[in-house]
Amino acid sequence: MKYYPPSNHIYYENSDVAINKLNIKDLKLITEIEKELVVKSYETLHKELDENTIFDEKYLCKTHEIIFSSLYEWAGKYRSVNISKADSMFCPYINLESFSNNIFNKLKNDNYLKNYEDILLKDEFVKKLSYYMCELIVLHPFSEGNGRCIRLFFDMIVTFNGYKYINYKSTLERSDYILASIDCMETDCERMKEIIDNGLIKD
Ligand SMILES: Nc1ncnc2c1ncn2[C@@H]1O[C@H](COP(=O)(O)OP(=O)(O)OP(=O)(O)O)[C@@H](O)[C@H]1O
Ligand SMILES: [Mg+2]
Repeated sequence: MKYYPPSNHIYYENSDVAINKLNIKDLKLITEIEKELVVKSYETLHKELDENTIFDEKYLCKTHEIIFSSLYEWAGKYRSVNISKADSMFCPYINLESFSNNIFNKLKNDNYLKNYEDILLKDEFVKKLSYYMCELIVLHPFSEGNGRCIRLFFDMIVTFNGYKYINYKSTLERSDYILASIDCMETDCERMKEIIDNGLIKD
């Protein structure tokens, strides 16, 4: 679903396709290409992962850039317009920088969630993951592709801690993930926590 308002200016006229470097206007084709790009980005970032990886704002932007830079000029860059989906108005762009700083300062104080390898800490890990995931969903820093980028970001964090990529199962196809995201807008992370808890298992 594309974003309101159309002043976002990232879509071709009367189209759900974002203006792209390949000038592809076919939604099915661009969706397929994006799917492949996501898979490749998982591989690239997984290979790069090591003790020195820091899951900060720069890393979040990097994940978005790696996925989308071959297609979109705005890849890896925070948006400069306000956007909403259905009844949800995401962080006003004017506050993006300061809200993002708050989130990533907190994450830094949690050592970027790099100390959760111990399975006995799983409950606390799930709680933290869902909290930060909700915060980033509310932030919605990019013009498009926030969902995929945010999930990739947390999948690298869980991989770092010896877990498999989070299995969202059918929550993405059904409306569960969206409903959980809507709860996040009201700072209620419970549904997201349940999704992550069910989808997180050790490698
Ligand atoms: N009505 C809504 N209210 C709040 N958050 C929403 C709503 N609809 C979708 N979302 C959140 O926005 C994300 C989609 O954002 P965006 O379209 O920028 O990313 P995407 O990668 O293109 O999408 P997707 O996550 O569907 O693959 C969803 O994953 C969900 O977390
Ligand atoms: Mg989208």
